[in-house]
Amino acid sequence: MSEYKQLIDKPIFHTIGRVADGMGREAYVVGGFVRDLLLGRPSKDIDFVTVGSGIDLARASARALGQHIKVTVFKSFGTARLAWHGTELEFVGARRESYDRNSRNPIVEDGTLDEDIARRDFTINAMALCINADRFGALVDNYNGLDDLKAGIIRTPLDPDITFSDDPLRILRAVRFATQLGFRIAPETLMAMARNAGRMTILAHERIKDELQKIMASPKPSIGFVLMMKTGVLPYVLPELEAMSGVETRHGRGHKDNFYHTLEVLDNVAARTSDIWTRWGALLHDIGKPVTKQWDAKNGWTFHNHNFVGSKMVPRIFRRLGLPLGEEMRKVQKLVELHMRPIALVEDEVTDSAVRRLANYAEEDLEDLMILARADITSKNLEKKQRFLENFDIVDEKIRAVRALDLDRAFRPALDGFDIMAMFGLPQGREVGTLMKELTRVSKDCEIEPTRQAAIDFLLDLGTRMGLHGDPSLLPDPATKPKKKTSN
Ligand code: CTP
Repeated sequence: MSEYKQLIDKPIFHTIGRVADGMGREAYVVGGFVRDLLLGRPSKDIDFVTVGSGIDLARASARALGQHIKVTVFKSFGTARLAWHGTELEFVGARRESYDRNSRNPIVEDGTLDEDIARRDFTINAMALCINADRFGALVDNYNGLDDLKAGIIRTPLDPDITFSDDPLRILRAVRFATQLGFRIAPETLMAMARNAGRMTILAHERIKDELQKIMASPKPSIGFVLMMKTGVLPYVLPELEAMSGVETRHGRGHKDNFYHTLEVLDNVAARTSDIWTRWGALLHDIGKPVTKQWDAKNGWTFHNHNFVGSKMVPRIFRRLGLPLGEEMRKVQKLVELHMRPIALVEDEVTDSAVRRLANYAEEDLEDLMILARADITSKNLEKKQRFLENFDIVDEKIRAVRALDLDRAFRPALDGFDIMAMFGLPQGREVGTLMKELTRVSKDCEIEPTRQAAIDFLLDLGTRMGLHGDPSLLPDPATKPKKKTSN
C-alpha cells in the first residue's frame, strides 16, 4: 500500500469514495486537511472536492453514513456540510473563480480539479488525495506542494500578485502559516504580500481577528508580528503596535525599541503559558508608551502612566477587532495596568501588606501577572537580569506565605480557649482542650458556618453532651478583647 493510501485508509474515506464511484464521479480530500495529514497534525475539518455537485455528494454520503445525519446546505456557495463523529465534513464541487476588485467574494463557476487546485492560496494547501476505489490514495500535487511542505516554504501556486490581490486575507494567512508551522515565506511571495498590503482595507475585522488569534496561539507569536511589520501589513491590523517601533535619540540618549521589546516579552510569556489573554496582555502591555513618551533634560525619556493609558486603550482595540469585551478584556486591561507593580514591589523591602494589596487587586490573575512581569525583564545586562529574577523569587515566596496565612485565618475558629473557659466557667484543662479541639476540627472542615454564633451553638450542643453547662452571656466582648498579634 502506498504511503498516502495508508494515511487515508479509514472506513469514512472508502465509504464516501464508493458513493462517488456509484455516481460516476471523481472525489478527493483536499487542502488544509491533506496538508495537516502529511504533517501529522490533527485537524477537525475534512474538505472533499468532487467534479460536479458537492451538495449531491454530501447528501448521498450522509445516506451511506447513517440514517439521521443532517446535511447543511449553503446553496449560494455550492457547498454542504455534515457533522460526523465530531468531525466536520465539507463538500464542494470543483470550481474556477474570478474576483471583483472591490470584494473578497469571487464569481464562481464549475471547473475541473486542476482549476480548483490552481485557485488555492499556497502550494502546501493545493494538494488532493483521490478517494475513488481505482485511484485510492493517488496524490495530486500540481505545484510541488510536497517539496515545499518538506522544505517548510510558503509559496503561491500562481502569480502571487494575483493570489493576494484576489483575496488579501491570504496575506494574513501566509503570516499565520509561517508563525504556526515555523515555515519561511518564499521571497517572491513575501514581496507580493508587501505590494498588496493596501488591499487589506477590504477585509472584515472578524477575519483579521481569526488569523490574529491563531498567530497569538502559536508557539512563537513574534514571527507573525515581525512579518507583518516587514510587509507593511501591521498598520491594517494593529496600528497601535506599529507606533511602538523605532528608537529616538536626543543628546546621545535613546530609548529601547518598544516594538521589539514587546515581541520579546510576548515570546517569553508564550513559553510559559498557553492562556491567550495573558499573551494579549503581553502584546499590549506597553501600548501606551508612544502617547506618553516625553523628553526632559533631567530624566531623559519617560513614559509616565503608560500602564494606565495603555489599559484605557484596550477596549478600543478589542472592539475594533471584534474580540470579547467581557471578562477576557478586563483581564487584559488588568495585566496592562498592573504589569509594573510586581517589579516595583521588589525594588523596596517586600512587606506582607504590599504583597496582600497586589494579590487582592490582581485576584485570580496574580499568577499570570507574575508571568508577565518576569517576562518583561529583557535587560541584556545579565547580572541585572539575574538580580531581578531572584527578587521575583522572593515575591513568589511572599505571595505563597501570605496566601497560606490568609487561608489559615479564614478557617480559624470564631472563638478561642479563653472564650470557652469563660462560657463554661471552666479552668484550663482537659475539658477545655476537648471543646477547643472539636471546634477547630469542624471549623477547618467547614462543618459549621464561619460565624461567632455558629461556634457558640456548636459548643453549647457539644458541652451538653459532655454534661457541661455553657452560658454565652459570660463570653468576653469581642470588641474589647485584646487581639492576638499577627505578623505583617
Ligand atoms: N483557501 C484558499 N484561500 C483562502 C482560504 C482557504 O485558497 N483565503 C483554500 C486552501 O486550499 C485551504 C482550504 O481552502 O487549505 C481550506 O481553508 P480553511 O479551512 O479556511 O483553512 P485551512 O487551510 O484548512 O487551515 P486551518 O484549518 O488551519 O484554518
